[in-house]
Amino acid sequence: MNITTSTGSIEDRKAPLPVVHVFDVDQRTGFMAPHPPLARLPEAWEIWEAMLDAAVAAKLQLGDKIDLTDEEAAASKEWRKKAREMPLLPVGDLSGSAVLLRRAHLVLAYILHFYVQSLPPDEPVSIPPSISIPILRVSKELDIPPLLTFSDTVLYNWDFRVAPDVDDAVPTTDNIRTQTMFTRTVDEEQFYLCSTRIELRGVEILELMRVTMDETFVGDAIALRGVEILELMRVTMDETFVGDAIAVRRIAGYLETIAGVIDDLKVLLLDVQRLCNPEVYYNVVRPWFRGEDSYEFREKRKWTFEGLEDAADVVAPTELSGPSAGQSSMVHVLDIFLGVDHQATTPGKPSFMSRMQSYMPHNHRMFLDHLKANPRPLRNFVVDAKDDKLLAAYTSAVKALKEFRDAHMIIVTLYVTGPARRAAKIALEKSVAGGVEHVNAAASAPLKGTGGTDLVKFLKDTRTRTTEALIS
Ligand code: HEM
Repeated sequence: MNITTSTGSIEDRKAPLPVVHVFDVDQRTGFMAPHPPLARLPEAWEIWEAMLDAAVAAKLQLGDKIDLTDEEAAASKEWRKKAREMPLLPVGDLSGSAVLLRRAHLVLAYILHFYVQSLPPDEPVSIPPSISIPILRVSKELDIPPLLTFSDTVLYNWDFRVAPDVDDAVPTTDNIRTQTMFTRTVDEEQFYLCSTRIELRGVEILELMRVTMDETFVGDAIALRGVEILELMRVTMDETFVGDAIAVRRIAGYLETIAGVIDDLKVLLLDVQRLCNPEVYYNVVRPWFRGEDSYEFREKRKWTFEGLEDAADVVAPTELSGPSAGQSSMVHVLDIFLGVDHQATTPGKPSFMSRMQSYMPHNHRMFLDHLKANPRPLRNFVVDAKDDKLLAAYTSAVKALKEFRDAHMIIVTLYVTGPARRAAKIALEKSVAGGVEHVNAAASAPLKGTGGTDLVKFLKDTRTRTTEALIS
């Protein structure tokens, strides 16, 4: 994908510059970092890295694990004590380096989730200043919430499985591994890598989308380029012949290809079943991801960030949903491009999808904002063109996205809804006389997603929104 620079002569301005420089979207890896992300912070922040290593090595267990042993509870208590006693490290020297800030966010977020989720369920969630203040400061610099995000677990959390021979090698769907995990299980790694593979396979769509937008609507070509709008508009107007018959044919071709790539994304999604066991995922991996608002069968536990009274530069966070692939820019891009409108269901409240955008890396969010600047240009173009072939190609792309969401619902049933029912049943059987009613009532409440949504209704709604984009 190319953009145009803001300096130099017009000739210079026409020279392509990778979008990575403006939006962190790479021509070969899309939203994924084009090079393996930093695996360890420099010496000055070694205490954080060591604390994280200690949690993983000690195999810390969830505080609400059924059958948690006394030894396991004692081990996590000891680790939390050490985490609380860590010195409050300054983050000033991380400023200005996205690479360092991203690793710092990842390390602190994993420590934070280890801390919160290993607490006994009846203890208040109070995050010590040694963790709370640095993660708030780093998150403020990155402009994302202070907890684990999709970018921590997927986009900036990979390495090559086998070191490539060439210097400038890019990750491929079968030569990647995950760097940092809670459990180091194959199941956790494969859960992350399922999304990684989808991000990589989807890169082709980004390029096809760019050329389609170039041909359908001048304004979006400019939005994608994002700089020196007026001058570019003149240059682009001179050069782009908008919406002729050949363009219609070409766009139909791009859309057919896009539909095929979305089919591949669906296959990659369903493929998660090969190596990620649903029960392990639900009971052992997923609970570590919980944010403040994602407790399925329990009252919401308020997260308190300690030390705010001594840190005037940061404030208590308002967004504390756990990581979700709902934060994948790839799916949002497809929605915007094809004209799927996820309007808010509650008036005055942002939709889940727009809330999830605040968890994306700042530059990716900017990229989506540019795309959104002109709503539904492709869809309107298809309506206006009144061309059967184009309409059929557009329909097959929207249907492919709907089928991706059908497959996603199958996966959610397999990995969340089903195991949740079984877990509730086991909890019910094991609960002592006084607790029975509580567990029973909670288990019949609507199931919540990692992002705190009422799961089944929400997923059905997003699927309905997708079909609504179809042109009758
Ligand atoms: C085992 C694999 C997966 C499970 C268990 C899963 C589970 C969920 C859950 C529970 C939600 C509800 C929203 C929330 O509260 O987080 C959700 C939403 C979502 N997930 Fe997944 N997910 C999986 C894989 C993926 C992958 C690989 C992608 C694509 C990169 C994806 C994309 C989305 C999107 C875009 C949403 C927002 C709703 C929508 O657009 O339909 N998911 N997922």
